Amino acid sequence: MKKNVAVIGVGAVGVEILRILKQRNFPIGNLRVFARSAREINIDGFKYSVEPIDCESFDNIDIALFAGTEGAKGASVQYADKFIAKGAVVIDNGNDFRLKEDVPLIVPEVNGAVVKVHKGLIANPNCTTIQAVTALGGIYEQFGLDQIILTSFQATSGAGKKAATSLWNESKALVDENQGDFDSLNKILKSDPECFDQQIAFNVLSHIGSPAEEGYTNEEWKVVNESRKIFADEAIKISATCTRVPVFTSHSESIYFVTRKDANLAQIQETLKASPGVIYDNRTLTFPIQAEGRDEVFVSRLRQDSQNKNAFWLWCVSDNLRKGAALNAVQIAESLLSK
Ligand SMILES: NC(=O)c1ccc[n+]([C@@H]2O[C@H](COP(=O)([O-])OP(=O)(O)OC[C@H]3O[C@@H](n4cnc5c(N)ncnc54)[C@H](OP(=O)(O)O)[C@@H]3O)[C@@H](O)[C@H]2O)c1
Repeated sequence: MKKNVAVIGVGAVGVEILRILKQRNFPIGNLRVFARSAREINIDGFKYSVEPIDCESFDNIDIALFAGTEGAKGASVQYADKFIAKGAVVIDNGNDFRLKEDVPLIVPEVNGAVVKVHKGLIANPNCTTIQAVTALGGIYEQFGLDQIILTSFQATSGAGKKAATSLWNESKALVDENQGDFDSLNKILKSDPECFDQQIAFNVLSHIGSPAEEGYTNEEWKVVNESRKIFADEAIKISATCTRVPVFTSHSESIYFVTRKDANLAQIQETLKASPGVIYDNRTLTFPIQAEGRDEVFVSRLRQDSQNKNAFWLWCVSDNLRKGAALNAVQIAESLLSK
C-alpha cells in the first residue's frame, strides 16, 4: 500500500534520502519536501519542489523522514511533534532523541524488531555507530562482545554539505596558489579553515564534536551510548576516538573487539560472511572512494590478536550518507510498510 511521505531537509542526507526512495521504488502516494526556505531542486534529473517548513501544513503524511539540523533551532526539535500530532511516524536522523527511553534507535540488520514499540518517533543512529554495529552485529549475536575499541576516520560530508564543500574549496585554493610546489609547504599549513575549526585540506583533525566527559568528545560518546542501546547491552566496554580526514564521502573505522564466548579466526570469518548488510573479503582492501554510492558495510583486514584471548581487529568502510544515514532511515521506513 502506498504511503504519503515527507522529507525534511535537503542537505547532504536529505538529497540522498530522496535519491534512495526513488532507487528502491518506495511506494509513495504523495511526496512533500520541506526545508527552511522554498526552492526547486533537481536530483538525478528529477525535479522536487521544496516547501518552507514554517507553512506548518502537515496533514495526511504517513511517514516523515527528518534530515534537518539538530538542537533547539533544528527541524526535529521544532517540528517532529507537529507531524506526529497529525498522524505521521517520524524517523529522525539527528541526535536529539536517540537516547530517549521511549524512542527506538534502529539499525534494521541488528535490532529491526524494536520498530514494533515506537510511539510515533524512531531515531536513526549516528553514522559511525551504524556502520560499526552492522559490521559487529552477527559477531555479537554468535559470540557476544566484551569490549570494542574503535577509531574512526570520518569523511567531511558527515558534517553536512557545507563541510564537504569546504574540503574542495580549501584544497583548490591551496593547489591554485602553490601549483603543486612542494617547497611551498609552509603555505599549505597556513590556509584559513572554511568550516571546521582547523584546516581540513591535507590535514587530519584529531577530534570531532565538542568536548565532553572524561576528555572524550560528544561524537565519541555517541558511539558508546548508541551501540549499547542498539545491542540492548549496557555491559559492553566501548571506547572510541573519532577523527576527521580529508575524504568527501565514506567513513573508515579500525575496530578492536573482544568476544565473550571463545571464538577463532575462522569462526569470525564465517560469521562476517553471513552477516546481513556486510561484505567481508580479507583479500580485497576497501577504501572510502570504493564504498561511495554503495549500500553495504565493507569489512576487511580481519586479524586475531595473538597476545589477547578472543580479541580481533577489523577494518570497515561504508558510505556515511547512505548506510550511515539516508539508507538506514529508508530501511526503517520500509519496515513500517510490513508492520
Ligand atoms: N551527513 C551525515 O553523514 C549524517 C549522518 C548521520 C546523521 N546525520 C544527521 O542528519 C541531519 C542532516 O544532516 P546533513 O548532513 O544533511 O546537514 P546539511 O547538509 O547541513 O543540511 C541540513 C538541511 O536541513 C535543513 N534545515 C536546517 N534546519 C531546519 C529547520 N529548522 N527546519 C527545516 N529544515 C531545516 C536545511 O535547510 P535549508 O537548505 O533551507 O537551509 C538543509 O536543507 C543532521 O541532524 C545530522 O546530524 C548526518
